[in-house]
Amino acid sequence: MMIGLRKYTTKRPPTLILTFSVIFFVIIVTAYIYSTPTTPQRPEKCSFYSSEGCRTRDLFPNTQFSRELTDQEIESRVVVKDLLNFVPLQTTTPKVAFMFMTPGSLPFEKLWHLFFQGHEGKFSVYVHASKEKPRHISKYFIGREIHSEPVSWGSFAMVEAERRLLANALLDPDNHHFVLLSDSCVPIRHFEFVYSYLMYTNVSFIECFLDPGPHGNGRFIKYMLPEVELKDFRKGSQWFTMKRQHAIIVIADSLYYTKFKYHCRPNMEGGRNCYSDEHYLPTLFHMLDPGGISNWSVTYVDWSEGKWHPRTFAGRDVNYDVLKALTSFDQSPHITSELKRTILMTPCMWNGSKQPCYLFARKFYPDALERLMYFFYNTTTI
Ligand SMILES: *[C@@H]1O[C@H](CO)[C@@H](O)[C@H](O)[C@H]1NC(C)=O
Ligand SMILES: *[C@@H]1O[C@H](CO)[C@@H](O)[C@H](O)[C@H]1NC(C)=O
Ligand SMILES: *[C@@H]1O[C@H](CO)[C@@H](O)[C@H](O)[C@H]1NC(C)=O
Ligand SMILES: *[C@@H]1O[C@H](CO)[C@@H](O)[C@H](O)[C@H]1NC(C)=O
Repeated sequence: MMIGLRKYTTKRPPTLILTFSVIFFVIIVTAYIYSTPTTPQRPEKCSFYSSEGCRTRDLFPNTQFSRELTDQEIESRVVVKDLLNFVPLQTTTPKVAFMFMTPGSLPFEKLWHLFFQGHEGKFSVYVHASKEKPRHISKYFIGREIHSEPVSWGSFAMVEAERRLLANALLDPDNHHFVLLSDSCVPIRHFEFVYSYLMYTNVSFIECFLDPGPHGNGRFIKYMLPEVELKDFRKGSQWFTMKRQHAIIVIADSLYYTKFKYHCRPNMEGGRNCYSDEHYLPTLFHMLDPGGISNWSVTYVDWSEGKWHPRTFAGRDVNYDVLKALTSFDQSPHITSELKRTILMTPCMWNGSKQPCYLFARKFYPDALERLMYFFYNTTTI
């Protein structure tokens, strides 16, 4: 075979060889010109000489990618692109969905009742009770449980529960904004303030920051590649609020969801821990719609003690000055986990102007209920 082939080539007439050489030369030169870094990117470059980034550039001309996207990524991105442009049905009574993730009964249900009272029609309540059926005292909570599964701290089941809540809340087309809360969260603003803050914003309030330390980037493993790169890996509190478009994107996502499900969980190889509830949504939206999220959470939490769990307020800690202080912050801290912890500050910009950061707060011991009720009821300034 080899010999036959060689014989065949040597028999070719010299003119033909020359022609081929010229064509070959032209191809090389053109390819070189088009790939010279100083030449502006031209779409024609894609058709012949280089496959790198072409499809990707044609589909997403306004976004920079450092590599060719996989088929699955392109599928995911086109869906997301359309969903981002989708405008929710203009219903007459847009509502905020309050989604509670709790092991059982809610210690602050009485306070939430006070919060909701008089605003019927502007909110809906969903409860995911992962351990035992809650006992309710408020009519706003009775019968609002959704199907629930057990959730242990830090497990991926947490993200599954968030999705379950979103899916149930999305069934109601009047729900335009979605808030995730825990049993230890309390409102620190009156309903009207919260409603306008969430309903008339153009972003989702999802905390998102870069933590180069062991409890941030240190949790990333290479199995997340190529779709999730270290440079895109982000951290943030799980207590989000979300626009309807973003809630649908979360439900539609299976690519990144699966990546995190298998490669960001406690007790991975080498004893490594990763907690999807702190990384999945910040990373997802950092990649898919960075300008569409606030980067801070509207739920206050105090990590300044530097322990494994945040500071928890007891009844004796609750007074007017403390509550006033919580409502007055206009920038929000993010603490990184390096040896020399740094505190990054995000100014709380709402529709282009600086606004108070927080609508809710955690964590509180159940004995704080009476004092919280007192201040919530008797103070108009919070
Ligand atoms: C947001 O800001 C723009 C410009 O200042 C203003 O026209 C618009 O009404 C604001 N939106 C809300 C919901 O306040
Ligand atoms: C959030 O941070 C991203 C960068 O990570 C930035 O592009 C975006 O504008 C920020 N969002 C707001 C509302 O400032
Ligand atoms: C939100 O509104 C502000 C102020 O009008 C604007 O600067 C920003 O680009 C908007 N963001 C989005 C995601 O629409
Ligand atoms: C409001 O203050 C009055 C007078 O101090 C008190 O009797 C009442 O219980 C307070 N309301 C609540 C909900 O705590």
